Amino acid sequence: MAGVRRSIVKGCGSYLPRTVVTNRDLEDRVATSDSWIVQRTGIRQRHIAEPDETTSTLGLKAAEAALADAGMAAADIDLVICATSTPDYTFPSTATQIQDGLGIHGGAAFDLQAVCTGFVYAVATADKFLLSGSHRRALVIGAETFSRIVDWEDRTTCVLFGDGAGAIVLEAGEGNGTSADRGVLTSQLRSDGRYRDKLYVDGGPGSTGTTGHLRMQGREVFKFAVGKVIDVVHEAFAATGTGPDDLAWFVPHQANRRIIDASAEKLGIPPEKVVITVDRHGNTSAASIPLAIDAARRDGRIREGDLVMLEAIGGGFTWGSALVRW
Ligand code: UT7
Repeated sequence: MAGVRRSIVKGCGSYLPRTVVTNRDLEDRVATSDSWIVQRTGIRQRHIAEPDETTSTLGLKAAEAALADAGMAAADIDLVICATSTPDYTFPSTATQIQDGLGIHGGAAFDLQAVCTGFVYAVATADKFLLSGSHRRALVIGAETFSRIVDWEDRTTCVLFGDGAGAIVLEAGEGNGTSADRGVLTSQLRSDGRYRDKLYVDGGPGSTGTTGHLRMQGREVFKFAVGKVIDVVHEAFAATGTGPDDLAWFVPHQANRRIIDASAEKLGIPPEKVVITVDRHGNTSAASIPLAIDAARRDGRIREGDLVMLEAIGGGFTWGSALVRW
């Protein structure tokens, strides 16, 4: 088969705020301990945005780095999608702020909100725009400032999250229609709103008129996470005729080391193929996967031609996977 359209990754980039907050630093704020946080989550530190930084300023830096990595000019981009649950404003979108920051004044830009699954949803969405032929080059960004919505008095949540941004550039190209093609090979998106009370923010423009704070029944989310993640990864394998042995890298959403390890083990993916950044970044929601991608690109792990499985689960619940050949 010839002439199948594919969305091919041309570059990636990321940005982390300068300030690092360690578990020990948090011991001064809430009744917690470095050993509890490390044992239960694998998190050792997280980056927290400076007062003058916002989701769009983090996202802009990640987008600039991704464009430089792709060797492209901002003017080449005709689609900007920013996955975020912590937009600078209720509106306009963070994506239009980033678009303007890049000096792009054409094409389309919009935010996408699927919480921690946001980046997987954004990759899937950009892929469909590029496959339709309506757009040619997309910046897909995950950017978050969860430090602004966590309740810093609540030890069950505030120790888990961090700020940051990551981005990739996708360009419409061609393949043969097989799993040997470069590009996004499949994406599997799911959601179920019955679980809203397990992980949510207790405010919003249309309800309280306030921003609200993140609330989570962690144990409940944990129980749901591993099973659902495994389902969508299996579905991505089935859709492409691939399996765990074909994977070069597994890049899961970075919420909890125990969830990542249990998922990889049940999927038959060996630990050396799993990209882990949760120890250094904490849970950065929609930014966690592109931050992990960029870390693994920079240190030479992910290379052109590698088969890479992305997966995430987050508030809603939403969950999903995307299988990408780099
Ligand atoms: O990114 C979106 C998806 N989110 C997730 O994937 C998060 C999923 N959930 C988790 O990662 C885990 O459930 C947590 C890390 C949030 C919690 O770990 P856990 O092993 O499920 O602990 P738990 O909630 O069952 O709490 C165990 C104990 C409790 O004390 P008691 O009731 O046993 O006396 C908590 O009060 O740990 C206590 N605890 C803490 N202790 C010290 C809760 N938070 C802390 C803390 N420091 N920060």
